[in-house]
Amino acid sequence: MRKKIVAGNWKMNTTVAEGVALAKAVAAKSAEVPANVGLIVAPPFTHLVSVAEALKGSKVELSAQNCADKAKGAYTGEVAADMLVSAGCQWTILGHSERRQYYGETDAKLVDKVRLALDNGLGVILCVGEMLEERKAGRHFAVVTEQTENVLFHFSAEDMAKIVIAYEPVWAIGTGETATAEQAEEIHACIRKVLEGKFGKEVADNTTILYGGSCKPSNAKELFAQPDIDGGLIGGASLKADDFIEIGKSF
Ligand code: PGA
Repeated sequence: MRKKIVAGNWKMNTTVAEGVALAKAVAAKSAEVPANVGLIVAPPFTHLVSVAEALKGSKVELSAQNCADKAKGAYTGEVAADMLVSAGCQWTILGHSERRQYYGETDAKLVDKVRLALDNGLGVILCVGEMLEERKAGRHFAVVTEQTENVLFHFSAEDMAKIVIAYEPVWAIGTGETATAEQAEEIHACIRKVLEGKFGKEVADNTTILYGGSCKPSNAKELFAQPDIDGGLIGGASLKADDFIEIGKSF
């Protein structure tokens, strides 16, 4: 059976000291979350080593928010996958809509990033999701299908065991406006069908698909009750340990 996961994307928030305090608070309460629910936090790069230390002995795993599309060398400002591993990461988020929108992340670049992450033993949380105009134009299924195919169809069924997908409708991110459970479920089911077509039913059934976009304690239960929603990628609400843990208890 696929794993249930709640992952916190801290984005560009907290100083190192604040991040370590937040990680310690999450770690301290993590035992309240059912054993079959994985918890992940994704702090900024600068925090990774210290947060890894703060999480030791807890069930909480560590993720980066991005990694380079190159292995090493003269790429000023970039951070490579093996560096993330050496800092204590088990995961990296890739393809977040903020990176696609503001930093020119393309599906082609994402193929290289996913490959490097997997080659270095990292799990990947790959984000997909449509913009508001695309939904208004009725293109949401097509956009999410394309993003999924453009990146994941370069990988094997074995690779898929290390890949989690996060469906994050861009219009719901940080806006307080959540997709309804029905809107989210129908896209999750669509993604699972796309995976089934390429990799077969077993891989599709075993792939964890998270929902992201203004997910919080008050709406997590309804979202997570949907058959194809296996947890959440949480932005704003992951900056409060109590809210994040509460979401972890919402299955
Ligand atoms: P949000 O962000 O929960 O603040 O909407 C989710 C995300 O972008 O991962």
